[in-house]
This record gives sequence, C-alpha cells and structure tokens, in this order.
Amino acid sequence: MQIDGRAYRTIWLDPEDGWSIRIIDQTKLPWALEIVRLTTATEAAHAIRAMLVRGAPLIGATAAYGLCLGLRVDPGTAAMEAAAAQLAATRPTAVNLRWALDRMLTVLRNTAPAERVAIAYAEAARIADEDVAQNQAIGRHGLGLIAAVARARPGSPVNVLTHCNAGWLATVDWGTAIAPIYAAHAAGIPVHVWVDETRPRNQGAALTAYELGKHGVAHTVVADNAGGHLMQHGKVDLAIVGADRVTRRGDVANKIGTYLKALAAQDTGVKFHVAVPSSSIDWTLADGIAEIPIEERAEAEVATLTGRAPDGTVTTVRVVPDGSAAANPAFDVTPARLVTGFITERGCCPASAAGLAGLFPEH
Ligand code: MRU
Repeated sequence: MQIDGRAYRTIWLDPEDGWSIRIIDQTKLPWALEIVRLTTATEAAHAIRAMLVRGAPLIGATAAYGLCLGLRVDPGTAAMEAAAAQLAATRPTAVNLRWALDRMLTVLRNTAPAERVAIAYAEAARIADEDVAQNQAIGRHGLGLIAAVARARPGSPVNVLTHCNAGWLATVDWGTAIAPIYAAHAAGIPVHVWVDETRPRNQGAALTAYELGKHGVAHTVVADNAGGHLMQHGKVDLAIVGADRVTRRGDVANKIGTYLKALAAQDTGVKFHVAVPSSSIDWTLADGIAEIPIEERAEAEVATLTGRAPDGTVTTVRVVPDGSAAANPAFDVTPARLVTGFITERGCCPASAAGLAGLFPEH
C-alpha cells in the first residue's frame, strides 16, 4: 500500500544485507513513520510482544522471519526448537502465530541443519507472499457485498463499520476486513468507514484512520460505544471485522468489543461479516468461548492514553485515579450465531461448521 506515494509492505527483507528484517514500528503511528531493523529471534519476539507489529497475519509472518533470524545464529535442532518456542510464547490469541511456526517447523525438521537458513527464508517469503494474495482475494470476494448495497442505493456512499485494525497494517499488505473497502474504492464505489477507536490501544483511531487517510478513503472515527446508536439510526449498511482465531464451527475471537458490535448488529438487522484468511482458522477448536485463549494485557494500557500534545510532543497521560485497578482482556469471542458470514480467500460462506467445511473440505 502507499504512504505518501511510496509502496510499502509491513515487513520485508532488508535489500542491502539480504537477511535482516525491516518492519514499520506501529507503536509510533500515526505520529511518526519509523522503520525498525530486526536482527535476532529475540528482537522479533519483542516486536510481536510489544506490538511494534500486530494483527494476526502480520504476527505470523514476523514469527516466520524471526525463526530465520534464529537459524542464522544456530541452525541446530535444539536451538531451532527453542527459538520457535520463544516466538510462540509472545501472544496467545492469534492462531496465525502457531500456524506460521508449525508450517516453518514442518519444513525445517525435514531439512539438514546446513541447509535450514536458505529453506527458512524461502518459506517465510512464501508465507508473506501468500498472505498478500489471500488478502487480495478476500478483497475481491468482499467487494460483492459492498457493491450490492451500492446497487440498492445508488448515489449515496456505503457506510461500513469496522473495529480495531484489520487493514494492511495488520497483515503483510491489503488487510482482511479493509481489503473489500479498498477494492470498492478502486472500483469507484463511494464508501465511508465508521472507525471504532478501539480502546485501550486505539488501533482504530491510530492505525485504521491512518491507513484509510493515506489511501484517500472517507472515514469517521467514533468512540467504541457509538456503534449501536449508529446502527439504530440506519447509519451502518454493514459491519466488517477481522479475526484472530475462528473455530471450525465459526466462533470468532477478535479485538475486545467485537462481540458487543455483533450483538448490536443482530438487534438492528445490520449484516455482520468477518473477513478471515484460512491461516486464522483453528480447525482443532469448536467452542470459541470455552477454548480460545484470551490475552490479558497490562493494566497501564487501560489506565493511560497516548497522544500528541499541542506542542507536537507525543505524550502518555493517566486517565484513571491512582489506586484504581484496571483489567485488560484484549480479545472477546463472538459466537457464530451472531456472524452473518465469512469472507475468505476462497469466497464467502455462512458462519457454521458446514459453511467453513464447504470452502475448505481438506480440513
Ligand atoms: O491486538 P492486535 O492489534 O494484534 O489485534 C488485532 C485484531 O484484533 C485484528 O482485528 C485481527 O488481528 C485481524 S487482523 C487482519
């Protein structure tokens, strides 16, 4: 995607040395575009845990490249397994992390140590390139949903509500939930996006608004609690969100607050779609509420806010009284019955075991 006329992915191989990894430090956005160089598996693990990179598909791609960095230091089996375990322990909810590491290890365990580095970089590059292609396919399939609204109401923009950031910053490129919006924009369909701010870390206000703005897509940031009101008043044509893990029966773990939007959507008759690449489907789980591990993050993310002061300095302020406890569950689970349907790289399907199995019969 473009930032100020220059094409970026969120993660890439350093073109000068051919082995270190470059990422956009998302903790600095939207105030500064800072590129960080990763040189070790430990640095990659830190980038995932501290959310310099975030979003389920990008977490997976970063872990894959992190394993490459570890193998450069020691391609032996014990060190490889230790580096994979270190990367796997960074964040618990997005299944793409485990998916990418399992895929890498499946190839690498059958490879002699002397050949592992080259094979690992090739596999990590495939994971990144496939993510881009899958997201473009999600964009094409989701475009039909937006186009249908536009056809039914010619002349007025299609209002899409989204939560958190499931745009290009959450993936290697294009995004999942935002990919259909970019496809509609490219097709000349007028789209307007309601962007949930997504407390506590504000991925909507900081990241989704940033990338939509850079791409020229009309959008309005709203407080997280505004979505239900907007739906009641006919201001949302459809909701599209991403996913960190979808179970085989269609339960969806996504950023905290997604469930409440799905409840409001059902009450108001707004269609609620989840964009999900197959790398985010966990075929080993059925009951999302009981079985998906939910990340608990630091109290400080709830107790503070970071933003730009009038003098231009980026500053963090406390918004909770000293002494008050804060809790920070980072994801929630939306049961399949509240999801209108999935948008995958293979097409759209109902949010059910049969729907997913129909598109992915190999599972
Ligand atoms: O905590 P984050 O910022 O990694 O959470 C991101 C989300 O919840 C996204 O909606 C999800 O990963 C889908 S990304 C295409």
